[in-house]
Amino acid sequence: MLLFITLAAITAAEIVHHAPFENEFSDLDQVFNSSRGTNDGVYNSSYVPDSKYGQYNFCNMPHVRKDTYPQVDQSVYKLQFVEVIHRHHKRTPYAQNCFPVENLVLYCDDALNNYYSEFKTPDRSNNTTKISWTNYQNQYNPFSFIQNGYNGTCQFPQISYGGLEDSYQHGLDLYGVYGELLEFLPESYDPNQLTFRVTNNVITSQVVSAVAKAMYPCEKGIDVKVEGDSFDALEPTYSCDFADDVASEITSSSEWQEHLAKAADLYNELDHISGVDPDSEDWHQSLDHYFDNTAFRLCHGYDLACNSENSSLCMTQDQAEQIFRLGDFEYNYQFRIHENSTLYAATSYGAYFNELKHRLLQKTDGSSSLKYSHNVAHDGSIARILGFLQIDYLRWPGMGSEIVFELYEGLKDGKWYLRTLYMGRVLTTTGPLGEIDMIPLRDYVDYIESMIGKDAEVLVDYCS
Ligand SMILES: *[C@@H]1O[C@H](CO)[C@@H](O)[C@H](O)[C@H]1NC(C)=O
Ligand SMILES: *[C@@H]1O[C@H](CO)[C@@H](O)[C@H](O)[C@H]1NC(C)=O
Ligand SMILES: *[C@@H]1O[C@H](CO)[C@@H](O)[C@H](O)[C@H]1NC(C)=O
Ligand SMILES: *[C@@H]1O[C@H](CO)[C@@H](O)[C@H](O)[C@H]1NC(C)=O
Ligand SMILES: *[C@@H]1O[C@H](CO)[C@@H](O)[C@H](O)[C@H]1NC(C)=O
Ligand SMILES: *[C@@H]1O[C@H](CO)[C@@H](O)[C@H](O)[C@H]1NC(C)=O
Ligand SMILES: *[C@@H]1O[C@H](CO)[C@@H](O)[C@H](O)[C@H]1NC(C)=O
Repeated sequence: MLLFITLAAITAAEIVHHAPFENEFSDLDQVFNSSRGTNDGVYNSSYVPDSKYGQYNFCNMPHVRKDTYPQVDQSVYKLQFVEVIHRHHKRTPYAQNCFPVENLVLYCDDALNNYYSEFKTPDRSNNTTKISWTNYQNQYNPFSFIQNGYNGTCQFPQISYGGLEDSYQHGLDLYGVYGELLEFLPESYDPNQLTFRVTNNVITSQVVSAVAKAMYPCEKGIDVKVEGDSFDALEPTYSCDFADDVASEITSSSEWQEHLAKAADLYNELDHISGVDPDSEDWHQSLDHYFDNTAFRLCHGYDLACNSENSSLCMTQDQAEQIFRLGDFEYNYQFRIHENSTLYAATSYGAYFNELKHRLLQKTDGSSSLKYSHNVAHDGSIARILGFLQIDYLRWPGMGSEIVFELYEGLKDGKWYLRTLYMGRVLTTTGPLGEIDMIPLRDYVDYIESMIGKDAEVLVDYCS
């Protein structure tokens, strides 16, 4: 009888939302309380002193690092597989997040991006060469000096010089833990044991070029996996009308509309400074664009924006902090607070979880030689994973924010266990998995199947 009930519970997929802890981003009075400042978050530098490592830093989120890594008793558990997924590092803003005219000259000539092809057949293997894009400003082109509002040579987006430095450090820190401290990773790169994966957005490849080199300095080049851009599970880009509908329900709710209404004065001031059209729906349905634009400036040490025609009309620190608090509210609301946020995460990111589940199980049945799978993705990818697992406390996943899934084998009982780290610490959720710290792998697999079905058939049902 008991067995019957358990099986029935597992096969009938059911997506149950468990509310997160109340916090300063769930209560609009606190979101609009200016004395809360940045809520102890850092938004103006990639650097955090060692004594404060682990603190929320939007510019360069904490990740696993030798000095803060929570060690597992290696005489009881043997690490068998690691899956890392993190957001790309800091970058120029997306084109749609730039003001009509920006009061900043912005050159990106201190890093070079490469785009080229190679024949994979031996007879022509040597018949192409490396091609790098050098930014070109043509004095006879009447339009070329201003691009997306900026005078300069950058692409929007591209990983900045500082973002590449952070990526390199991220790779060193990962190797520090899984290579040096745990002696888990092989000393030289081996594609049968390690795999790197990116999304179709070129900035993820820019990041992995520095991460992988820091981990494997002898490698001249590595192959990274990328899925077709119309069904990429990592970004994600697969199409699911149902998930899109849930997302628009979430942002048409009265709570969402209320935060926008309360931000009306702020919007007026910001539009006046930036020259953004007050009727632009894109800029006024969420604070996303103002957030990205402002965080880019501060994270790279630039001043806050000023009006292009009046250099004494500038954004204030108070306004910037208000934008950041609103950004955290929006992520918390879309991915955790709204009762359909879990449904949204499950349907818009279920494909990745199906894949992850299979990678973990293939390790336990001995059919996979893979030890380490590394994905470079986006804030929306990280937020969906945290929404799916139902993190207890969510802020906007900043640059480089990292989730690690560690699979262990019990040396004494031969059973399989899973641990999940976020911001370098054990992930705690308000969902049925609670603190994801050496939980039986079976519980984890059951949870994934309860959301998407045994082989994603529930997900496919929702999305078709
Ligand atoms: C505003 O935030 C400050 C600082 O966190 C806090 O002390 C104060 O109680 C808050 N004000 C209200 C009205 O909640
Ligand atoms: C960043 O902002 C904090 C708080 O607003 C300030 O104390 C600090 O000096 C700033 N750091 C930089 C590098 O601008
Ligand atoms: C590749 O091409 C270069 C220049 O044409 C030549 O010197 C070199 O020997 C070639 N290498 C191979 C492996 O064919
Ligand atoms: C083209 O590639 C082949 C094979 O690598 C090489 O033998 C040949 O020299 C290459 N041709 C040129 C012009 O480099
Ligand atoms: C762009 O910046 C350069 C360097 O500061 C300056 O010489 C040039 O006049 C600027 N062009 C425009 C169109 O603002
Ligand atoms: C420029 O902005 C400042 C600060 O808001 C304001 O006092 C001043 O009148 C503005 N100048 C013009 C010409 O609009
Ligand atoms: C949650 O989604 C379901 C299915 O689309 C819908 O019927 C329900 O109204 C939604 N709930 C809220 C509060 O939006």
